Amino acid sequence: MEHKGCTIWFTGLSGAGKSTITDELVKRLKASGMKVEVLDGDVVRTHLSKGLGFSKEDRDTNILRIGWVCEVLTRNNVIAIAAAISPYREIRDKVRKMVGPNFIEVYAAAPLEECEKRDVKGLYKKARAGEIKQFTGIDDPYEAPLDPEVVCDTHKETLDQSVEKVLAALRKHGILNAKNVPVAA
Ligand code: ADX
Repeated sequence: MEHKGCTIWFTGLSGAGKSTITDELVKRLKASGMKVEVLDGDVVRTHLSKGLGFSKEDRDTNILRIGWVCEVLTRNNVIAIAAAISPYREIRDKVRKMVGPNFIEVYAAAPLEECEKRDVKGLYKKARAGEIKQFTGIDDPYEAPLDPEVVCDTHKETLDQSVEKVLAALRKHGILNAKNVPVAA
């Protein structure tokens, strides 16, 4: 069955849980028979955005590229999931406009102290030691969304609760029905 498309746009600090929630969400959506495609910042930077760094200009370019792909996928009835830090509000809002009404912004809202404590990739330690410059949250800005569709407090809730919040937003947008069955396009 053809279902409606949308863009689920995760934003948040490195280590805030964007990829973890995405992985679980993808499993559930695919189990419901939905077409899903993930654009993860780390992965995109090895292909579509290879060679880009972490200046504001390069981050903006990265996000606009991811946003463009999400728009194309959404238009073709795919659930596009973006998981990049996307630190600048203005650029996220530009992507929101580009995608249209089926744009669902999900803020992975773990505080910096928590992300730094987790330090899954060991990058915060390097940033503190000055080995990595312009690291988001340390010596580079992160602008939290003002009015996101979903906030996942990953330091206070379980993975299941976070995923449920996103599924609820998909129901609200008419992408899934009350029984988590995809709504026809
Ligand atoms: S974004 O700012 O352009 O949205 P993106 O999500 O693609 O960033 O990439 C972030 C990932 O790149 C981080 O999870 C981390 O693994 C790695 N990284 C390397 N250097 C930096 C840096 N200076 N700031 C943030 N992330 C960095």
